Amino acid sequence: MNVTDKELIEKATEAMHNAYAPYSNFPVGACLLSADGRTFTGCNVENASLGATNCAERTAVFKAISEGVRDFVAIAVVAEKGMAWPCAICRQVLNEFAPNIRVIVAYQDHVEEAPLSELLPHAFGPKDLNK
Ligand code: THU
Repeated sequence: MNVTDKELIEKATEAMHNAYAPYSNFPVGACLLSADGRTFTGCNVENASLGATNCAERTAVFKAISEGVRDFVAIAVVAEKGMAWPCAICRQVLNEFAPNIRVIVAYQDHVEEAPLSELLPHAFGPKDLNK
């Protein structure tokens, strides 16, 4: 069964409720869709050092990778307080595995999407090391 964008957004919203964001008070949730139809959710996990904070998107990617899944087609990102396009570090991490992934960002009833290749033009990735 095909997973719809609406389902991805719903799962990302559920994950957002698990966010650990006491410093920014900016909860974020993500839901990554793999090519075989599996979904992996993530939330932001902040840290008192601030620098050790992990974004929702990377949490979802790392969960999938750690379960042996590397082929991704879409990711939905939801934040409590506004549209949250993935940060540059998350764009780079997504590019490692899925340079053309669809990035869907939702806030309340507003949904936008863009291919990662548009969000991270001229990306440096695995292809550049295999010359
Ligand atoms: N954050 C995410 O988890 N994903 C985004 O797309 C943008 C930012 C988190 C990091 C930090 O915990 C909080 O939002 C504020 O930057």
